[in-house]
Amino acid sequence: MIRLQPLDQQVMVVMGASSGIGRETALRAAGRGARVVVSARDADGLDSLVRQIRAQGGRAEAVVADVTEADQVRAVATRADEVFGGLDTWVHSSAVLLYARFEQTTPEEFQRVVQVNLVGQAYGAMAALPHLRRRGQGALIHISSLEARRAVPYHSAYAAAKHGIDGFVEALRVELKQEGVPISVTNVMPGSTNTPLFDKGRTKLGVKPKPIPPIYQPGTVADVVLHAAEHPARDLVAGGAAKGILLTQRLSPRILDAALVRVGFRTQRTGEEKPERSPDNLYGPVPGLSTSEGSLGDGAFRRSAYNWLELHSPLRVLASLASGPPRLRDTSEPSLRSSRDLDRSGSTDGNVVAATAAAGPPANGPTASA
Ligand SMILES: NC(=O)c1ccc[n+]([C@@H]2O[C@H](COP(=O)([O-])OP(=O)(O)OC[C@H]3O[C@@H](n4cnc5c(N)ncnc54)[C@H](OP(=O)(O)O)[C@@H]3O)[C@@H](O)[C@H]2O)c1
Repeated sequence: MIRLQPLDQQVMVVMGASSGIGRETALRAAGRGARVVVSARDADGLDSLVRQIRAQGGRAEAVVADVTEADQVRAVATRADEVFGGLDTWVHSSAVLLYARFEQTTPEEFQRVVQVNLVGQAYGAMAALPHLRRRGQGALIHISSLEARRAVPYHSAYAAAKHGIDGFVEALRVELKQEGVPISVTNVMPGSTNTPLFDKGRTKLGVKPKPIPPIYQPGTVADVVLHAAEHPARDLVAGGAAKGILLTQRLSPRILDAALVRVGFRTQRTGEEKPERSPDNLYGPVPGLSTSEGSLGDGAFRRSAYNWLELHSPLRVLASLASGPPRLRDTSEPSLRSSRDLDRSGSTDGNVVAATAAAGPPANGPTASA
């Protein structure tokens, strides 16, 4: 039986925390008492996050790392050990996005997307597991995507990597079970979420891309991740729309093929021109985009009724009761401080804390973007 500590007794590492879902997860975890170690390549983005958390009385440490460098990823776990005496939950959120038809994708681009989005996630699990084993319990949470199970056009490399995450965590979960190691391994599969991913990504569409609607705010996914940090879970889909798509995929992939041919191309294009040579974060960070929410906020959902039902289903509540004292919480509890609350509080005026470059500067690829 796997028992996980309440968040206020946890040390949580969040990889890919400079923006988006990772940033919002770190903010909310710290708001609920977790000590957090945050990592990404953008030192300034991590800095502002650590300042926000500390200004609210939370405890946070930043480590600059590129997830494609296994030694840098290991250094993040080591830092958690040094600063906070171990780690309880590893959340792996890092990813890059490439919008291009498969035949427009170069071998180098395909390889880089898979390297960051799949191999980086595996490096994360490899770095975290020895520490979680030493703790005697813990949670490994991999944020993949609904595209771990159903790809959409323009995303061949991205979706291939996300399918790969589903594969390696499935094998790992069974291996841990067979050994009786009480580590929960969760695959979180969000649907379309309003984060800076779409501003940072490389696009060959000629316009700024956007996810297929409906779109949710990153807090809805962060709440699902935090649930998995306290309650062992296998697969969690974030957002009712994603669940609907995955159910349709199981019923008939052909129906989705037909729907995507009709609407899957134009709904991923904004009218905003974006040349292919615009800065992107494939090989290095793009500065100035260190926020949780992206630029597609109009109409994005702040709550998901589906998420609430999924996390509070009678079966899950029973499983939770069976594994220890009930810790299910309403995710809208007042103590939970979202990035919006923190921004409104003007907390960014806190002390500047430099990110810890634990394993040298992040490696840049051979073709750093323009
Ligand atoms: N937004 C969506 O619609 C959506 C939908 C489904 C799944 N997801 C998944 O949710 C997760 C979070 O994405 P997001 O939407 O929050 O996007 P995001 O805001 O762009 O966050 C991605 C994070 O990954 C980091 N990162 C990128 N390359 C890295 C590298 N080589 N080494 C270390 N860190 C790296 C980025 O920081 P630096 O650039 O500073 O390194 C950033 O902190 C991803 O796994 C994504 O695939 C997102």
